Amino acid sequence: MPTTSRRMLMLIFFVIVLRSCAVFAAGPANPASPDNDLQTSELCKVPISSNVATQPRRPRIIPCGGMLNEVGVLERMYIPDSFDQDRVQCGLFDVPLDWARPELGYEQLHYTKYLAASDVEREGTIFVNPGYHPTGPSLTPQQRWMLYTAPKLHNSTEGKYDIVIWNVRGYSGHPSLTRPKLARCFDTKEESDMFYRGAGVVLGVEPAWGGRMEFLHEQTYEDAKHWFHLQSMVVEQCVRKQNTTLLGYMGTAATVRDLVAMADTFDGSGSPVNFWGMEYGAHVGQYLLQMFPERAGRVILQAPQGLDTYLYEDTYETWRHELTYAHTLIGDFVKSCIEPEDADCSTYWHDEVLDQDDIDMAQESLFKWARNRYMGWRNSHETDSNNSALAAACERPGSWGDPTYWLIDTLNEMQYIEHLDDFTLGVMPVYCGDKSTDYNQETAATRIREIEAMLEDDIRLAPFLSSSIFPPLDYLCHIWPIRAVERLRITTLESEMPETPAVGPLIIQYSQNPFARFLAPSSIVPRIKGAHNIVQLKFGVHGFEPETDVGRTIVEYLLHGGVTSHLL
Ligand SMILES: *[C@@H]1O[C@H](CO)[C@@H](O)[C@H](O)[C@H]1NC(C)=O
Ligand SMILES: *[C@@H]1O[C@H](CO)[C@@H](O)[C@H](O)[C@H]1NC(C)=O
Ligand SMILES: *[C@@H]1O[C@H](CO)[C@@H](O)[C@H](O)[C@H]1NC(C)=O
Repeated sequence: MPTTSRRMLMLIFFVIVLRSCAVFAAGPANPASPDNDLQTSELCKVPISSNVATQPRRPRIIPCGGMLNEVGVLERMYIPDSFDQDRVQCGLFDVPLDWARPELGYEQLHYTKYLAASDVEREGTIFVNPGYHPTGPSLTPQQRWMLYTAPKLHNSTEGKYDIVIWNVRGYSGHPSLTRPKLARCFDTKEESDMFYRGAGVVLGVEPAWGGRMEFLHEQTYEDAKHWFHLQSMVVEQCVRKQNTTLLGYMGTAATVRDLVAMADTFDGSGSPVNFWGMEYGAHVGQYLLQMFPERAGRVILQAPQGLDTYLYEDTYETWRHELTYAHTLIGDFVKSCIEPEDADCSTYWHDEVLDQDDIDMAQESLFKWARNRYMGWRNSHETDSNNSALAAACERPGSWGDPTYWLIDTLNEMQYIEHLDDFTLGVMPVYCGDKSTDYNQETAATRIREIEAMLEDDIRLAPFLSSSIFPPLDYLCHIWPIRAVERLRITTLESEMPETPAVGPLIIQYSQNPFARFLAPSSIVPRIKGAHNIVQLKFGVHGFEPETDVGRTIVEYLLHGGVTSHLL
């Protein structure tokens, strides 16, 4: 089946998944108990007025080629009829490199706006961050969201809002118009190959990987230790290649100041900031609520991570927890949706019986996302074929006529590892630079030894996904030496009062999402009162379908600032 029609099918599949999800339990969250009631420290309080110190700058409108067509998106991808290209406007927005010291000069952000309708009264802007995890080289999450979700959101909010997606500092996806840019480690494949060959010699190992950097044999614990050291060398090489001053300005706190400045410019000084973030993209909203609770407008946090986890937890531990959780949920999915002869996935979907194609598509997406997200090395095709757990989950007559392992082929082909495939550090400088603990060489050395010991067992943590697995760079923050110039810290200062934003944020969680654990609101939005916390039961991917209960709740919240308890 040609790729385009498969992509189309995949989209149709998402629609099905989303349409059939149910929701329960809305309502204000209980105020956090004093024990959990975390407070922010002065660090994020002191410079809070700094945004007014700079002159607002007008955005510059530029052609949209970069955002939408840098990789030929419009020619190759399925574009929904509802996508109105004339409504898309792209621009560059100037921001100071350092919000506390604007005299250091200005950088720029690239954004894309899906314009409000001209025949209704415009209400403002909804800023969106669909998350960072790439699912492959063809579309960034930002591009995907703009193409497939923005038109639906535009229509269902009656065209009242401009919808803005921007490429945040340090992580700009394909269009490299945002500065500071994504940190690049190598300029060419040759440079990268030379580095890895040289590093092998330095480590005294015969390179065990091939031209695509895939392991030629089933990885052993010895390989894991070598790869671990190699990753440290990659990071050192990448840091050497950067202007390290810029790496300090890639943090999420700076990104929130950028967001507030855009709202000031687009909607007027002091206007409420509406924001919708998914998964790790929700961090921006979580920071907004801590840093500028008085500016928070309608804030949706969809499948968020705990703020305490993000700021304080050792990322290798986060990787172990997330991976184990994802593996368990995907295993459950396989048991009820894949293995039984007459599987109809009714445990996962409410009212629709899925056909084999839908189930295959769900499985492909889940496995692909999980591998792209949690795997920091690559298997050979043979290793994946030899993986009996994976083979058992895949072995059945495929819907495309191939009776064998179509899924294994696809997964192996689609394995995307940011620093191997596009020679960048991905989100590592942002995530790791946001960490509250300072970098310390001794602590790092101790942690390296500990992790090295843990790898012996941990590389076998997720047999369904891969017979051996190793964390990607953004889960190896202990080797990242640079911290953001401004960082958010949450302490337990008794004197700090809880904050009550004018409109409580809307938190959407999933009970069956392999990529987001269910959390208490006090861990997602510490000390913020009045949050609405809703849980989507059964299986679902993140996204937006106006006809679902969750979709209706989102629209109701965006239009009216509240949710009613009509949920199932
Ligand atoms: C737009 O929204 C209306 C309801 O507000 C709906 O009836 C219509 O089908 C939607 N149109 C599209 C193209 O999605
Ligand atoms: C796959 O399994 C076969 C048979 O057990 C074995 O000979 C081969 O070395 C394995 N391949 C890899 C890459 O592990
Ligand atoms: C690094 O970036 C800063 C900020 O833009 C600049 O002032 C400095 O000159 C740069 N350093 C180098 C070596 O390019």
